[in-house]
Amino acid sequence: MGNIRWGIIGTGRIANTFAAALSGTQGSELYAAASRHLEKADIFAKKYNISKAYGSYRELAEDGEIGAVYIATPMASHFEDALMCLRSGRNVLCEKSVTLNAGQLKILLDTAAENDLFFMEAMWTKCRPAYLKAREWIKTGKIGDIRYIKADFSNLCKYDPNDRLFRPDCGGGALLDLAVYPLTLAEDILGMPDEVISSSHLRGGIDLSDTILLKWKNGACASIDAGFEIPLRNNAMISGEKGFIIFGDWFFCTSEAVLYDREGNIIEEYKMPNLVNGYEYEIMEVQRCLSEGKKESRLVPHSGTMNVMKIMDECRRQWGLEFPGEKE
Ligand SMILES: NC(=O)c1ccc[n+]([C@@H]2O[C@H](COP(=O)([O-])OP(=O)(O)OC[C@H]3O[C@@H](n4cnc5c(N)ncnc54)[C@H](OP(=O)(O)O)[C@@H]3O)[C@@H](O)[C@H]2O)c1
Repeated sequence: MGNIRWGIIGTGRIANTFAAALSGTQGSELYAAASRHLEKADIFAKKYNISKAYGSYRELAEDGEIGAVYIATPMASHFEDALMCLRSGRNVLCEKSVTLNAGQLKILLDTAAENDLFFMEAMWTKCRPAYLKAREWIKTGKIGDIRYIKADFSNLCKYDPNDRLFRPDCGGGALLDLAVYPLTLAEDILGMPDEVISSSHLRGGIDLSDTILLKWKNGACASIDAGFEIPLRNNAMISGEKGFIIFGDWFFCTSEAVLYDREGNIIEEYKMPNLVNGYEYEIMEVQRCLSEGKKESRLVPHSGTMNVMKIMDECRRQWGLEFPGEKE
């Protein structure tokens, strides 16, 4: 299989970071970019030496030369953008949170299956070496049965009703923007929880700060905090009967993980610097899947993405929050 030709939809912050990662990753070619405005697409294309610039997302979706589309638009647009790409026959890597709700995700997964296409949430954390090392420690019984997970993520941002982060019509709020990472960690390690207890500080139709407790029937639990208002360490701990694992700060993108025994003695330290900027690992995972003809990533399985969407649906149900025009 030759290089994968990528198309990028949206030319904002993360699209730039992803394009930089793609430019430094072997086996992929940054082939096309689309913006709602052709001038923006042209500027982006020149910056990253991209051959095709489109002034509409549809034109890119319909370009049959593209092997995979990366969707880097605001949350509220993911569903329509991804659906259009899948219906046009494109494999899709879609930014987090993948959709506004589980109902939308189901439609995307069904459409991908009907069209025999690859679909993955761009949950880069799950593709990173430090995270995979922690998974290996857990799988090989280094910390025994998992009893507790603690993870938090804050991104201090001044409230601005015009910013996508705070706009209900853009799918704003700390839950879909930030809590999705610690929730993904907890779900990936312990599976779908049996109980979700959540509380949030709401303002202007979105959640600013969330505290979420997840419980499993076997007594395991996870404590998750996320928000725009208060500083947190942005770290994560996975604790088992025989020991625990602590990730470096900014756990979702860390290059470090440390394994401890139950007395707190260090057993193993793992460090793996990024090859480019950290997003290359999810790109390589998509490349691997496509070259093997897979429609789903083993590292970011559809079932995990769906479980996290269901947990977030339950949190929003508990808070009485609904996005405007939210379709299921
Ligand atoms: N994985 C990560 O580490 C990470 C980090 C940050 C963000 N994200 C995710 O990536 C997505 C984009 O975030 P971002 O920070 O890159 O956002 P951003 O800077 O605002 O860029 C989003 C882009 O989407 C396009 N767009 C389409 N409809 C839009 C609308 N109604 N309003 C504004 N822009 C619109 C715009 O591109 P055009 O004008 O070119 O069409 C815009 O530049 C979000 O889903 C976010 O959760 C992921």
